[in-house]
Amino acid sequence: MRIDVVSIFPSYFDGLTLSLLGKARHTGLLDLRVHDLRDWTHDRHRTVDDTPYGGGAGMVMKPEPWGLALDEIAGSDVSGTEAPTFIFPSPAGEVFTQATARDLSTRGHLVFGCGRYEGIDERVFEYASGLGEVRLISLGDYVLNGGEVAAMAMIEAVGRLIPGVVGNPESLVEESHEDGLLEYPSYTKPSVWRERAVPEVLLSGNHGAIAAWRREQQIERTRRRRPDLLPPAEA
Ligand code: ADE
Repeated sequence: MRIDVVSIFPSYFDGLTLSLLGKARHTGLLDLRVHDLRDWTHDRHRTVDDTPYGGGAGMVMKPEPWGLALDEIAGSDVSGTEAPTFIFPSPAGEVFTQATARDLSTRGHLVFGCGRYEGIDERVFEYASGLGEVRLISLGDYVLNGGEVAAMAMIEAVGRLIPGVVGNPESLVEESHEDGLLEYPSYTKPSVWRERAVPEVLLSGNHGAIAAWRREQQIERTRRRRPDLLPPAEA
């Protein structure tokens, strides 16, 4: 998979050289390219923002550098037939979920456009929709200073679903949100730690009983912490 990121703070993404995604980049499973939006400015101050038409607080990102950036990145897509999918992290977007991550992990080319200030001139989204699918996606109902941290979270959630990135594919199946429930609790040695014992059933060797206990725990946790996720039959 190819992922391009456009940001005025490209060094935010240095962390994506680490761990599993770093390894995926090294082995070629993930082709991640981070770009500085200011490289597509042409004035002495490398200006990317201006005051909003109609007034109001803050600054808005100018369309011209974004247009040049998107043209160049979309035009460099030599993978052939598939148009890129443009993702603009925004608190005004659809909420990102595991289902969104799974959907995006099937695409050949993602382009993340990270806005700052009060956002990006609206015409940029219209223009990008002529180059590929455009998604405005929110990490959740709170406000960050810009799209960078949200893009990093989405890239990690999507990247680990690329086949081969996570060594043991079974660990993807048993996680929170993959079956619509929260994950069951996990324990390791020692069997007693600071007077707290591991639940007996996990030491029993009875695989059927262990599976049933884990399922109960998933439902109980989900009911307690995230009742909004429970299917009506379990509520
Ligand atoms: N940019 C600012 N806040 C955001 C959020 N909650 N999700 C995605 N992008 C954002």
